[in-house]
Amino acid sequence: MALSELASAVDDALRGRRSIRSYDDRAVPDSLVREIMEAARHAPSPHHSVPWRFAVLTSLEIRARLAEAMGERWRQDLAADRLPPEVIAAEVGKSRRRLLHAPLIVVGSLYLEPLDSYPDPHRQQAETLMAAHSLGAALQNLMLAAHARGLASCWMCAPVFCPEVVRDALDLGPELIPHALLTIGYGAKPPPERERPRIEQIVTLWA
Ligand SMILES: Cc1cc2nc3c(=O)[nH]c(=O)nc-3n(C[C@H](O)[C@H](O)[C@H](O)COP(=O)(O)O)c2cc1C
Repeated sequence: MALSELASAVDDALRGRRSIRSYDDRAVPDSLVREIMEAARHAPSPHHSVPWRFAVLTSLEIRARLAEAMGERWRQDLAADRLPPEVIAAEVGKSRRRLLHAPLIVVGSLYLEPLDSYPDPHRQQAETLMAAHSLGAALQNLMLAAHARGLASCWMCAPVFCPEVVRDALDLGPELIPHALLTIGYGAKPPPERERPRIEQIVTLWA
């Protein structure tokens, strides 16, 4: 492929990807699930450590288990914030429906064992942060790969607020720290246009 074609294909993919939160009834074929997960393998990671793992959820039963567990924790958190019960029910219900209606959910966890060890907390925290950066890169790969196959996706941050709840609900190993999930499916409708930041807003030094 000529470089100009590659640039235009990559630009199309990253400009065209959008967060889409509702999906139609079609399941994602297994072959596509595999192709999407392949994309994560190519994400950059610190010292080639590959400090993340994924759980791929398709059955309604396991998605419901995750939704119930995270919903219960969120309900408790919002009650502690003293939100009115009807607001709590609406918020938690909306989130639950999103998980139940997404035919495919990919949960991304940090896996810190392959990282370097330091005697001081400062450098150790930097290692953990690097793992989180790398998980973000892998999740972006997954979203772009999904988009390139006609699928829509949306990142949900809920697991980072209750990693132990997600770990228990999915029977994940104690070495995993769930941080994020992607809902993936065939988008029900295109999202509204979103204005992007100007380049001057995001580049603070161009020397
Ligand atoms: C770290 C992170 C956490 C996010 N968490 C959520 C979330 O919990 N729920 C949600 O609907 N969208 C979530 N999003 C999606 C953002 O809302 C979305 O990327 C943003 O509005 C820009 O829209 P776009 O993805 O269509 O460009 C998250 C995105 C990132 C990067």
